[in-house]
Amino acid sequence: MAIREIVKDGADILTKVCRKVDVFDRKLHQLLDDMHETMVENNGVGLAAPQVGILKRVCIIDTGDDLIELVNPEIIESSGTQEGGEGCLSFPGKFGVTIRPQFVKVKAFDRNGKEIVISGEDLKAKAFCHEIDHLNGIVFLTKVIEMIEQ
Ligand code: CO
Repeated sequence: MAIREIVKDGADILTKVCRKVDVFDRKLHQLLDDMHETMVENNGVGLAAPQVGILKRVCIIDTGDDLIELVNPEIIESSGTQEGGEGCLSFPGKFGVTIRPQFVKVKAFDRNGKEIVISGEDLKAKAFCHEIDHLNGIVFLTKVIEMIEQ
């Protein structure tokens, strides 16, 4: 495992659409392991592959219970709304209020290529939306309705 450098504000790669993963090999496992170590080191609740410079549809989330690894994730259902603060490891020191669904259901693949369906509400739903946005080149600042001054 290795800690990778996090791509920061202004980097082109953060606005690119990521490519689908079709090979579930050791290299993918290495990427997921490195992303986990990098997220823990930086006290994040989520991290997407483009944030470590890799344009692949891979992201991880840990909102306090279990590590969730998502490959080629898609939101297949969402409902309700939540309004609250949001930040991103690629935008240190920037926080803003966003409106996100209260509940989302995601279809994805695990690291071995097995299809999974996973749902979450509150912070987990927000994290799913935030990380999947990254895979489409969308950063949270574009969804902020009001910046939060620290
Ligand atoms: Co982010």
